[in-house]
Amino acid sequence: MKVIGSISAAQRLPQAAPAPIVLVPTMGALHRGHAALIDRARALAGPRGTVVVSIFVNPTQFGPKEDFSRYPRPFAADKALCAARGVDVIFHPTPAEIYPEGFSTYVEETTVSTLLCGQSRPGHFRGVCTVVLKLFQIIRPQIAVFGLKDFQQCAVIRRMVRDLHVPVRIVAVETVREPDGLALSSRNQYLSPEEREQAPVLRAALLAARKAWQGGEKSTARLRQLMVKKIAASTLARIDYLELADADTLQPVSHADRNTVIALAVFFGRTRLIDNLRLR
Ligand code: PAF
Repeated sequence: MKVIGSISAAQRLPQAAPAPIVLVPTMGALHRGHAALIDRARALAGPRGTVVVSIFVNPTQFGPKEDFSRYPRPFAADKALCAARGVDVIFHPTPAEIYPEGFSTYVEETTVSTLLCGQSRPGHFRGVCTVVLKLFQIIRPQIAVFGLKDFQQCAVIRRMVRDLHVPVRIVAVETVREPDGLALSSRNQYLSPEEREQAPVLRAALLAARKAWQGGEKSTARLRQLMVKKIAASTLARIDYLELADADTLQPVSHADRNTVIALAVFFGRTRLIDNLRLR
């Protein structure tokens, strides 16, 4: 496994590394959720293709009051996980390499990215699109793999790729969960024991809404109410948003159907957790 820090070395990959190149973009602090993305990347690349994992805590997707500086950066452990899963190349650039002095060009998706997380984290998806397009430009993968826990991120990236004619196939992988239903996230480690105990309420609320929908409740107002009530029973939870939306456009809907996604962001103390569920 090679570790590459410089853009010029990474730019040589398309000539030097066997195709297909499958990229897994990450911010590190890798867990079993990332391992599932890497495993899918390996399956897509086949034994002869090249799996590249990028590890870069992207400053432009964090707001001024967010956790950029305290975001975990356990590079040795990340490297070990990548090696154990047969990754071929880690791309691990510095912020100065990605955003050199005088950098002034950003990529902005202007519809899907304005809803849900886009409302509570202004500028977040501009930072995500900018860095992901940069990674696509540098590494030139044929396929890129993302996790569905960040449902909106997948939707925004698909839009960007479509709108800017980027020749890459986007593959989305199901969320990996703890046995009690909590979606795996690098931010779970910020939770206090009490917050961690209450955090599975998010999955429980999503499943309760799905059960009610399967039982015939189609009003998104009533489904929302049911979920809010369930989450409110957890004393440490503070809802940031909870929406039922069209899974393609992410616009809110009044009647839930098979193309509805329920997406939520909830604070436990300073830690903001997101989760979602597609009704099918
Ligand atoms: O999902 C993430 O970890 C990040 O948003 C990504 C896609 C690596 C861009 O920094």
